[in-house]
Amino acid sequence: MTGATTATRRSRDAPTRPPRSSATRASTTAAIATRLVEASRRKSFDPFNDVDWSIPIDDSAFHIPPEFLPLYGTRPWKDMSRRERITYSRHECAALCATGIWLENILMRLVLRHLYAAPADNEAHRYLLVEVADECRHSTMFGEYIRRAGTPAYRPHRLLRLAGRLMLATAETTAGFISILAAEEVLDVNNRAMMNTPGIHPVAATMARIHVIEEARHVAFARTYLHDEWPRLDWLSRSRGAVLAPIYVKGTVESLTNPAVYRELGIPGGWRAARSNPHHRQRVAGDLRSLTDLLAELDVINRWSRPAWSALGLLPASSPVSAATRTTRARTTGRLTQVAGG
Ligand SMILES: [Fe+2]
Ligand SMILES: [Fe+2]
Repeated sequence: MTGATTATRRSRDAPTRPPRSSATRASTTAAIATRLVEASRRKSFDPFNDVDWSIPIDDSAFHIPPEFLPLYGTRPWKDMSRRERITYSRHECAALCATGIWLENILMRLVLRHLYAAPADNEAHRYLLVEVADECRHSTMFGEYIRRAGTPAYRPHRLLRLAGRLMLATAETTAGFISILAAEEVLDVNNRAMMNTPGIHPVAATMARIHVIEEARHVAFARTYLHDEWPRLDWLSRSRGAVLAPIYVKGTVESLTNPAVYRELGIPGGWRAARSNPHHRQRVAGDLRSLTDLLAELDVINRWSRPAWSALGLLPASSPVSAATRTTRARTTGRLTQVAGG
């Protein structure tokens, strides 16, 4: 991200398209970083004061819209009463908060490790400190929900926690940003549904609204950063990242269902039904479309790696690479305008 770092990672390959000059790329990341710091200064939230924690976290309403619950539409779902479905949504919301804390922990460590060697007068350095502070407040907010939800303090499956450690030990910053973006894109779609669906529990809806507003900045930065930095990596780093990226993203997708929820609620076969639920799988793949379109544009998803992405169920039913550039550009531009007030 910094000039010093990127200078050592100059690509050895001739790109297929004429690259933007390094000065232009650096100024793109710096420009968005400057705008996002200003947007953060104008609008940031306090997890203790901007959520009404006096409202009981109970079963008076769904905490996640039914069609966004992993079990939705399966045999166990059809056997549940409305009350049981609401209780299940409260447990899923607590598990999702725990997943959010886990993913944000990984993100913060990746970013702080990157910042360790970055100069403090760099615009990206300035912005990323703000982003870490955002994530710290989000995890605080999720923790407050978990403490009040009347559920166990769920944690991602131990194999995922182990995979997270391995990823932290081996991931380079740019490839790491792909997994960060995957988590942010998937949670963003979920959060938008939570805040826009009438009748969702007010605490869950408020958390979702706060997360959507602040995460929009993170997504905008991560997309710009990947766009700028990926083409500058040397061939080996790009190849390694391209091989690992679908594994990172699959790990993120797997973290969206937690077997402990189904054990706690006594739903035999529930986890298997949720993981293999065609509705859940297609929805998550659809939620990843914005990311996979960007990765197709960057040639991370190409004719060699595409079968792996497809086999892992990470591509929506139709994801034409030819349409990727158009779609991604439009979405990125819209998001930047939205979050930076431009
Ligand atoms: Fe967050
Ligand atoms: Fe984030």
